[in-house]
Amino acid sequence: MHLWHTYKTPDLAAHAAADRIAEIISQILGNHSRCHIALPGGTTPAKCFYYLAQHKINWQSVHWYLGDERCLPIGHTERNDVMIRQQLWSAINAAENTIHLIPAELGAVAAAEKYAAIIDKVTLDIALLGMGEDGHTASLFPGNVALQNNNSVVPVFNSPKPPTDRVSLSVATLRQAAHRLVLTTGESKQQALRQIKNKMALPVNSIGDVEWFVDAAALASN
Ligand code: 6PG
Repeated sequence: MHLWHTYKTPDLAAHAAADRIAEIISQILGNHSRCHIALPGGTTPAKCFYYLAQHKINWQSVHWYLGDERCLPIGHTERNDVMIRQQLWSAINAAENTIHLIPAELGAVAAAEKYAAIIDKVTLDIALLGMGEDGHTASLFPGNVALQNNNSVVPVFNSPKPPTDRVSLSVATLRQAAHRLVLTTGESKQQALRQIKNKMALPVNSIGDVEWFVDAAALASN
């Protein structure tokens, strides 16, 4: 069952998502020595990362993973890990041994194999995800053969969102996460959200129950 949280503005939605993530991290660290969380790329999460970094958490006990990565050279400005480092890991001074990057510079197949060896050793406590206008999440795009690949991490080719080659956590891995949160805002996401509310089989609607953090513009006329 999806849980919907709607806010007037993208900033309020991002702030609420950050507070919810901090709450879950604190709960996990109350009972475990580590918390494992996968993060999204794209433009939406930046504000969420800003607010998350304001929380007083023992960040050295939080281990970070990527929901997906683009097959670009290390340090390329379009890589998801570059954005996340700028927006979050630098702000909390995350220790390098807590950051588990996808080696997407190796190419989709080799990177997926290497990252699977890391992901197979953990169960994600939180998967924070975005959603594209077509209902994709991570790098799992509608109609893409990667959706049927049950390995823990999958190579993605022919992505409609550049670059064409990517690496993504699989549907199976996202379904196994203890908590799935999707932060998505703006009127460009209206159609996908309408389809989700109508129970259409989109990638973001096939990973299990989701806590949705959306703004009024994304939900309008739904
Ligand atoms: C990526 C992301 C992707 C993103 C959505 C939404 O590599 O692009 O992982 O899944 O979350 O495309 O992107 P926006 O937040 O920019 O709308």
